[in-house]
Amino acid sequence: MGKVIAITGKGGTGKTAVTAMIIRSLLKREKKTTILAIDADPDANLADVLGDDVEMTVGDIREEIQDSRISLPPDIDKKQLFAAKIFEALLEKDGYDLLVMGRSEGSGCYCYLNSLLKGIMDETIDDYDLVIVDSPAGLEHLSRKTISEVDSLIVVTDESRRGLKTAETIRQLAKELDLKYKSLYVIANKVRDLSKDQILKVAEGLGLKVIGMIPYDENVARLDLAGDPLVGLPDDSPAVMEVEEHIIREIGL
Ligand SMILES: Nc1ncnc2c1ncn2[C@@H]1O[C@H](COP(=O)(O)OP(=O)(O)OP(=O)(O)O)[C@@H](O)[C@H]1O
Ligand SMILES: [Mg+2]
Repeated sequence: MGKVIAITGKGGTGKTAVTAMIIRSLLKREKKTTILAIDADPDANLADVLGDDVEMTVGDIREEIQDSRISLPPDIDKKQLFAAKIFEALLEKDGYDLLVMGRSEGSGCYCYLNSLLKGIMDETIDDYDLVIVDSPAGLEHLSRKTISEVDSLIVVTDESRRGLKTAETIRQLAKELDLKYKSLYVIANKVRDLSKDQILKVAEGLGLKVIGMIPYDENVARLDLAGDPLVGLPDDSPAVMEVEEHIIREIGL
């Protein structure tokens, strides 16, 4: 089984951008890694940032099976059906696959389907060297434990104390939820030089390890505004360089 990393953090800190930049860096390497990118945010936009078009989400499939449950023949293997449909929804790109989780369930009882989904996700994850999960702000999806074990839990923060405090909250929540992880790391994003020392100090006070400080990068802002994918960032863009020189290595990729 490969590595699973979950990118979390306060809203708008750059979780999706960081996820996309990590994927971009890995794609550029000679050493090929099989990658599954999972967009776990109900307001999914990792696909946009990667420049992909996704038509079907896991949420849509779950809904579809739930709705047709009564009409399905009793002898049909629902796990197999669910898995086959998820396989169809998997977008295969050159260098990575993308799966969008989509919206969480409506008002029905999805416990049965969710437990099937957990099994399917465990098996799917096994097929890749790296699974990277772009998570929504908050840990609701982790509390559903669709993915029950991660290697690195990464909290993206901006320069704010509240952003760093989120890392602390996430650590506590993971403990309460009994979510297993090997390392908890912090990535500071959109950081100015003058804040770096202070960020390290606050992080140290909270017992958090900072594995990278990505500067505010005009190129990221420009591509975002133009609606262009971040894979198009130049190699010498400051944010890209920080991801390549520190972050990838610290995560052990
Ligand atoms: N290093 C950076 N330099 C400049 N702009 C950045 C940088 N990182 C992210 N941004 C911009 O900040 C905004 C928020 O980034 P992003 O969508 O990745 O955050 P998020 O944490 O995924 O947000 P959400 O909580 O809504 O999912 C975007 O407009 C993005 O282009
Ligand atoms: Mg996001």
